[in-house]
Amino acid sequence: MAHHTAAYVFDAYGTLFDVHAAVRRHADRAGPEGQRLSEIWRAKQLEYSWTRSLMDAYRDFETLTAEALDFAFACVPSVDPALRNDLIAAYRTLDCFSEVPHVLKTLKDHGARIAILSNGTPAMLETAIRHNALTSVIDDVFSVDAVRIYKTAPAAYELVTTAYRLYPNAVSFQSSNRWDIAGATKFGFRGVWINRQHAQDEYRDLGPSVILPSLDGLIAASAEE
Ligand code: LAC
Repeated sequence: MAHHTAAYVFDAYGTLFDVHAAVRRHADRAGPEGQRLSEIWRAKQLEYSWTRSLMDAYRDFETLTAEALDFAFACVPSVDPALRNDLIAAYRTLDCFSEVPHVLKTLKDHGARIAILSNGTPAMLETAIRHNALTSVIDDVFSVDAVRIYKTAPAAYELVTTAYRLYPNAVSFQSSNRWDIAGATKFGFRGVWINRQHAQDEYRDLGPSVILPSLDGLIAASAEE
């Protein structure tokens, strides 16, 4: 018998929302090194989340995002620092990937619960969801801000199983971040790696159940259940 998925839980940044959409929105002003700025920004934002979790020195994701951007500007002086506030504002209203509205709606119509589990603050997630008109298809938004520790801490993934009173293996967790899939798999979720960038595999002992190039493949899999 096919395993029944009670809830589809999605990582937010990189999985539903395109983290490089902020710099892209201001690409003309950012100039040729804009993409490099965007990559440093993302890498540092994540590094700060892991180091601060290990140190037990939590600061919310909005703060880390701003601190990471300031570091990125310092690394890439060719990008005009006057862009800073516009990039911060753009990060609050990142565009979602094109397949997201249709996939979430279809899964919800099949009877699954749809949720986000993200490092983002509730306010950041709320504005991004509203900007992309996803409010009606997302049942619940779980922010690690409630436990003040970032993924890949088990306490972050546990927010979902506690609220839903589900065993971890009834949760299908989608993330484009391979490290997040490792944490989710360790916790016991069914990990679906959305490998948008054709990245190399890693964390071999904590592998995904499924690898998909985009969220589209979730629909066929859910129809088979
Ligand atoms: C998130 C980050 C990890 O949304 O992308 O949790």
